[in-house]
Amino acid sequence: MTARKRPIIVAVDGPAGSGKSTICSEVSRRIGWSYVNTGALYRGVGLLASDRGINLEDEAAVGAMLEKLAGAIFWDYEKHQLFCGEENLTPRLGSAEAGNAASFIAKQQKVRKLLLPVQRSLALNAPKGAMVDGRDIGTVVFPDADLKIFMTANLEERARRRLRQLESKPVAGVSNNNQSLSEVMEDIARRDNQDSKRGEAPLKKADDAVEFDTSGHSQDEAIDALIAIIRDHGLL
Ligand code: DC
Repeated sequence: MTARKRPIIVAVDGPAGSGKSTICSEVSRRIGWSYVNTGALYRGVGLLASDRGINLEDEAAVGAMLEKLAGAIFWDYEKHQLFCGEENLTPRLGSAEAGNAASFIAKQQKVRKLLLPVQRSLALNAPKGAMVDGRDIGTVVFPDADLKIFMTANLEERARRRLRQLESKPVAGVSNNNQSLSEVMEDIARRDNQDSKRGEAPLKKADDAVEFDTSGHSQDEAIDALIAIIRDHGLL
C-alpha cells in the first residue's frame, strides 16, 4: 500500500447562508479534522483593506496591501480564528461590513491569486483531514479533492440564518443588525448574483460534487447527514 501524500480534503462550496461554516466547523470538530474557512480569509482581507482606508474597488491597491500582508495571515484551524500578525480579526468577521468588503475584493484576480497558495497550504498542513469551505474549493483550489459537496438551501431559509448570525455576533457589545428579513434576502440575492456571475472563479457546482440541500434540516440533522456522506465515501 502506498502512503497518502496529502491529507484527505473535503471541499464544500455553496452560496451565502447555506450553512457551510456552521456545519463544517462542527463536523470537523466531531471527526477530529482541521477546518479551513476560506470565506473568513476573504472577509479578513476586506477588513484589512478598509481599516487602511484603501478604496476596495482599487484592485492594484488591495493587491499591493495583500502582497505585503499575505505572510502574516494565519488561520488557527483548531480554534477557527483568523489573525493578521498579532491582530485577531475573528470578532469582526461576522459583521455586514466584513461581508460587503469581502464580496468586493473577492472579484479581484490579484486577491484570488494571492489567496490560492494560502488556502492550499493551510489545508495541506492539516495533520489528518481538512474540511475546506468556500465558493471555488472544488473547482479551483482543490479540483482533486477526495470529496466535493455543493451545499444549498432556499433563499428565505438562508436569509433567516444570516439574520440570526448577525444578531448573535455583536461587535464590541453592539448588535450588528439593523436589517429586516427582506433586506437580508435582497442582500443575499445580490451577493449570490455577484458570486456566480463574476469572471474570476465564479460560484458553481463542480460536475463531480454531491449536492446537499440543507433546507428544512435542523443544524444537528445536517451535521449528521454530512458525516454520513463522508463515511459513505470511505473517508472515515
Ligand atoms: O462565505 P462567506 O460569506 O464568508 O464569504 C465571504 C465572501 O467571500 C463572499 O462574497 C464570497 C467570497 N468567497 C469567495 O469568493 N471564494 C471563497 N473561496 C470564499 C469566499
